[in-house]
Amino acid sequence: MDRLRVTGGVALSGSVRVSGAKNAALPAMAAALLTDEEVRLDNVPDVVDVRTLARLLGDLGTSCERLGRHRWALRTPEVTTPEAPWDLVRRMRASVLVLGPLLARTGRARVSLPGGCAIGERPIDRHLEGLRRLGAEIRLEHGYVEARAERLRGAEITFEDVTVTGTENLMMAATLAEGETVLRNAAREPEVVDLADLLRAMGAGIEGAGTRTITIRGVPRLHGTEHRVIPDRIEAGTWLIAAAITGGKVTLEAVEPAHLEAVFDKLGKVGLSLEVGRDWIRIGNGRPLRSHDLVTEPYPGFPTDLQAQYMVLMTQAGGTSRITETIFERRFMHVPELRRMGASIELSGNTAIVEGPTPLTGAEVTASDLRASASLVLAGLAARGETIVHRVYHLDRGYEAIEEKLGALGARIERLSG
Ligand code: EPU
Repeated sequence: MDRLRVTGGVALSGSVRVSGAKNAALPAMAAALLTDEEVRLDNVPDVVDVRTLARLLGDLGTSCERLGRHRWALRTPEVTTPEAPWDLVRRMRASVLVLGPLLARTGRARVSLPGGCAIGERPIDRHLEGLRRLGAEIRLEHGYVEARAERLRGAEITFEDVTVTGTENLMMAATLAEGETVLRNAAREPEVVDLADLLRAMGAGIEGAGTRTITIRGVPRLHGTEHRVIPDRIEAGTWLIAAAITGGKVTLEAVEPAHLEAVFDKLGKVGLSLEVGRDWIRIGNGRPLRSHDLVTEPYPGFPTDLQAQYMVLMTQAGGTSRITETIFERRFMHVPELRRMGASIELSGNTAIVEGPTPLTGAEVTASDLRASASLVLAGLAARGETIVHRVYHLDRGYEAIEEKLGALGARIERLSG
């Protein structure tokens, strides 16, 4: 299994191009199940999760042709089997995004239940409840969701709590339903808005994406289109924090600053100065860093997907910060590893209390999810000596060419194979 060797102590400098958003590309690919015409996607990140979903879609009957590193053409003349097997769903929970489109297109879906994951239980009960409200008959058997519906019917659905892929699944299912669907307490994430933009370009009637209430007017069929996936705000936030941690000066290119307001707000309070253009952001050396509390929240709040990276930043800031994770119940796996590198972090329920600044020293570390792994790379950049980050496959799932991008900014980082 590949590892990354990071030798810390270099202030990052230069420019980095941000890839397309993994969490927007995945639902966009799943949406290709909704039509027999071709859906062309551009700015798709070259990451493992995208390839895993392409494999699953291929099994379902979608031809997934790669036209270039970031361009895909997807076409589903017909769904050959409406089944997403355990082996793929267990590898990537986002596979559950095929449930809504399969049901809408064929009236049937058999999708493995994802099971727990490293960051929390992550049930899909809200997806299922919503589909039931659209008239689907749903049974759980042999670890699978078996869903059937002659034709889905529009309904009013109120999510008990915000769910991103739940909103996306229901929005996709409702595009081909009979009548109008209203989703209340919907997720407002930019990735949801991007999916709505794609679906609208395919002929769907959708209003209100980006607000708490989304209205979908069902249509008999959708058609093909071309769509450019939005930039990855989590990757962008990761580079901003990497620059801040190393006292560097970095320019991010091909970003959407409007999606990063909560991150800008927090980094400003920590003492960092940012210059923001139309599609670029420049971060300057902001030392000394000041501690600041954080609570993760659904968008437009501060994203849980940057909590681990922010925690590393707080180990380098003066004072005490309290970091509260409200989205996932077990998203602190990076804490013991950061402690091994010298960080002072106490856990109390869903809050981590970080005392800074503490010098970090390199160590062999490992994590079992994508963002925790990213935080360990960042800690390695700030640490004295050498850090070996194990299980790089977690990073490869969601960060395109991480060592090349950091290397181009001057970081001493290399992949060790085997
Ligand atoms: N939840 C339920 N029942 C449901 C659905 C969700 O209890 O039916 C709970 C979850 O267990 C969690 C909370 O609700 O505690 C929020 O989960 P949500 O459904 O919003 O998360 P998700 O859609 O499974 C997406 C991203 C995650 C990101 C979260 C939160 C994709 C493919 N994944 O997951 O991204 O952390 O939203 O913003 O879009 C990552 O990229 O590293 C990642 C984990």
